Amino acid sequence: MKGIVLAGGHGTRLRPMTQVVSKQLLPVYDKPLIYYPLTTLMLAGIREILLISTPQDMPLFRRLLGDGRQWGIELTYRAQEEPNGLAQAFVLGRTFVSGEPCALILGDNLFYGSELIGIVQDAATIERGARVFGYHVSDPERYGVVSFDDEGNVSGIEEKPASPSSSYAVTGLYFYDRDVCDIAAALRPSRRGEYEITDVNRHYFDRGLLQVRILGRGMAWLDTGTPEALQDASSFIATIERRQGFKIGCPEEVAWRMKYIDDAGFERLAAGFGQNSYGKYLSRLSTGSLR
Ligand code: G1P
Repeated sequence: MKGIVLAGGHGTRLRPMTQVVSKQLLPVYDKPLIYYPLTTLMLAGIREILLISTPQDMPLFRRLLGDGRQWGIELTYRAQEEPNGLAQAFVLGRTFVSGEPCALILGDNLFYGSELIGIVQDAATIERGARVFGYHVSDPERYGVVSFDDEGNVSGIEEKPASPSSSYAVTGLYFYDRDVCDIAAALRPSRRGEYEITDVNRHYFDRGLLQVRILGRGMAWLDTGTPEALQDASSFIATIERRQGFKIGCPEEVAWRMKYIDDAGFERLAAGFGQNSYGKYLSRLSTGSLR
């Protein structure tokens, strides 16, 4: 399975923080936001990843992430001239996807929980249909929302409904079979003028091919669309990291634990950070003093 991280957009709700830099490059506690969705794909076992961003931000992402080789993955880049909808990822990414199943994660979505690795690795085996995730939120009208019938089966999916029929938002992590690029290419823009990922999902739903898995209360799904949400995400990560002494969304560590890089490669990465706290953390892992 391949993977796309969509890191476009103007970040209007976060200005002036995003006046000159992409939202996905802003820090969430101790690392850039983009590290979190990127490592979610890496944990799923996905190693061929396309990053889509704006033409202006692309050079910065390249400087930060390079070609991915340092983490044992293959990163390529594609610019989205205009942020006109999430489904465009599969139009821009068609050559990259080249008829394989593909996951999409939004560059501002942060997932955390001990079940995460099992959930994403299982989803990455999908060969037919689509798998998305529902998460109970207090403000479903801000999201894609999934509705259920009396038996608990999915009965529909709607983008930002004025009166949501459930409190289950569809998260920004999607796993699709090989049809996804054709489906995305045939979409028409929605009333708000965007190529909606929810329309892709509805297409699968209409054919009985949409699987919705609920992420339970023990999982964290955070987004970072407003200053408050960004601050909450930073506080959340800081709280868990400081308490446990382990980092969340650390690509060097994930690459090493997933065996995408060997011990020597990991030591080199650790040494590159010198004696700062990030470097010390990686060194302690690599020498086995932190297990
Ligand atoms: C997008 C999707 C929405 C989804 C959300 C998750 O919304 O359109 O269906 O629930 O991401 O973060 P947007 O961030 O574009 O408002």
